[in-house]
Amino acid sequence: MNSNLVIAIDGPAGAGKSTVAKILASRLGIRYLDTGAMYRALALKALRAGLTSQDGVQAAQILENTEIEFGPGNPQRVLLDGEDVTDLIRTMEISELASALSVFSEVRAGMVSRQKALVAEGSCVLEGRDTTTVVAPTADVKVFLTASLEERARRRHQELAVKGSEPEIESLTKQISERDHRDYTREDSPLTCSSDAHLVETFGLTPDQVADQIMGKFAEG
Ligand code: DC
Repeated sequence: MNSNLVIAIDGPAGAGKSTVAKILASRLGIRYLDTGAMYRALALKALRAGLTSQDGVQAAQILENTEIEFGPGNPQRVLLDGEDVTDLIRTMEISELASALSVFSEVRAGMVSRQKALVAEGSCVLEGRDTTTVVAPTADVKVFLTASLEERARRRHQELAVKGSEPEIESLTKQISERDHRDYTREDSPLTCSSDAHLVETFGLTPDQVADQIMGKFAEG
């Protein structure tokens, strides 16, 4: 193993990837790379430019002249061309548009090359639906988190409730199920559990317990 430690966490929407990735990054004192936030930031810029879910090619062009950076903070700050968009990219509208635009190969190519460059900068925990297969296929530890659709919707509901918004559980379940379908069936790098990833079923486990399991895999080598 080289001196850089790269942990890639993959899995469907709402499986707990970001919570677990943040815990691991903080325990290990290494960077946390939220690849989904990059798609979300681009979606926000695309929305502001009047683009829709069909306009992936134009969104990819916009990406060429866009700076997306991460800044310190809890939650980690996301900067779009220098503007702090951390909260603006967490709406349901942006979730939808990010998911739709992420289907376009042009968008994925631009994102993946940036993400690979970020990984090459040093140790990190990266998280997102292609990180174990495309962005960091040679990561030291690869993990695929799973949970049932109902469990993921329940967790998303809880997360949103803490933030003061409480969409109907039915509409969340539908939204996550649609995103699953899009993620699993897209032509370019569909969501899959690669054969060398550790599959972790997260039902009934707290994020800390999931992180413990992953640290255990790491210790195994
Ligand atoms: O993880 P998230 O919900 O913040 O991601 C937002 C969208 O971005 C998600 O619906 C699909 C896309 N995405 C992707 O295609 N590949 C990634 N590595 C991360 C996110």
